[in-house]
Amino acid sequence: MENALCRRTAVALLVVAAACGGGAPSPSPVAATADTLHLPAPADSSLRDDPMSRSIRRGLSLLTNTRDSLPNHVGAQLRCVSCHLDQGRRAFAMPWVGAYGRFPQYRSRSGEVARLEERINDCIRRSLNGRALPTEGPEMRDIVSYVSWLSRGTVSGKRVRGNGIDSLTPLVPDTARGRLAFAQYCARCHAPDGQGMLAAQVANAGPPLWGAGSFNIGSGMARVRVMAAFVHRHMPFDQPGTVAEQASFDIAGFVTAQPRPDFPGKELDWPNGDPPPDVAYATKARRSAAKP
Ligand code: HEC
Ligand code: HEC
Repeated sequence: MENALCRRTAVALLVVAAACGGGAPSPSPVAATADTLHLPAPADSSLRDDPMSRSIRRGLSLLTNTRDSLPNHVGAQLRCVSCHLDQGRRAFAMPWVGAYGRFPQYRSRSGEVARLEERINDCIRRSLNGRALPTEGPEMRDIVSYVSWLSRGTVSGKRVRGNGIDSLTPLVPDTARGRLAFAQYCARCHAPDGQGMLAAQVANAGPPLWGAGSFNIGSGMARVRVMAAFVHRHMPFDQPGTVAEQASFDIAGFVTAQPRPDFPGKELDWPNGDPPPDVAYATKARRSAAKP
């Protein structure tokens, strides 16, 4: 987690673009937001027709067509890039750029050192509400190929600006206001009942935000602070940066209070009793009530 150093002001934009290593800034101050900045990574066009390039391409295909490609492993109506935006290149949307060099990594949620493959399976089991992939199988290998390729040129073990997600100053959500703001800002793409829409129904159709087709309670996105930060910077998809911080917390409070699939075993998370304060369930090591 990192502070929001890439601020979306026109004045700071040039500095931001340089510091974040993003693409050329747009001349228009309206379109010129930091929201769409990408971390520097190899271009798809640099892939050739050799075995390594083919593995990387297969990996990307799994990350973008996750449910169709891995029907026995995905429970949610989501794909990896539903959250890891722009094929894992978007700054502050948990980009995969550099992720290869950040593992193995100690994870307080499991209390163990995890390999990249295990971190990916965490997102499959929680964020896709699915079943883990065999770590030794060709699908996991190809996904790791893609992440390692995207990470080429980054410094191993070093976190850079734009990694992870914004860390906003926590605000107390008002879920009644959040319901109204959801209708105003989100329903047109994610549907008034939050169950998502189809591409045939609307441009930039958004996937489910709650209910059976959504990520389960064990996902990081089910935490108010994580969702508020994601929404504040990246949503609405076609107008990012237009939802104020308080409204983002209100909406996140409303959305995370809706029903979603359970994650059996969640009470064993954070075995050392150090869950973040916005985890919405009690853990054995520390009974924690959800806080903003
Ligand atoms: C519902 C949203 C969501 C979906 C879908 C999702 N993830 Fe994640 N992912 C997250 C969040 C949230 C984090 C943690 C960000 C943080 O707080 O550092 C994360 C973290 C990660 C990380 C660690 C990144 C780092 O820099 O340490 C990897 C790797 C990852 N996800 C891979 C995947 C893969 C592969 C898929 C599909 C199989 C996937 N994720 C699907 C939300 C999601
Ligand atoms: C213009 C359409 C649009 C609007 C409006 C919109 N979204 Fe999204 N949303 C998307 C798309 C598209 C994705 C990513 C889907 C993909 O690429 O697979 C997404 C992804 C998400 C995700 C991660 C995936 C998931 O479904 O859990 C969350 C959370 C989210 N949006 C919340 C919101 C919230 C809250 C609002 C209102 C502030 C909102 N969105 C407004 C289109 C939209």
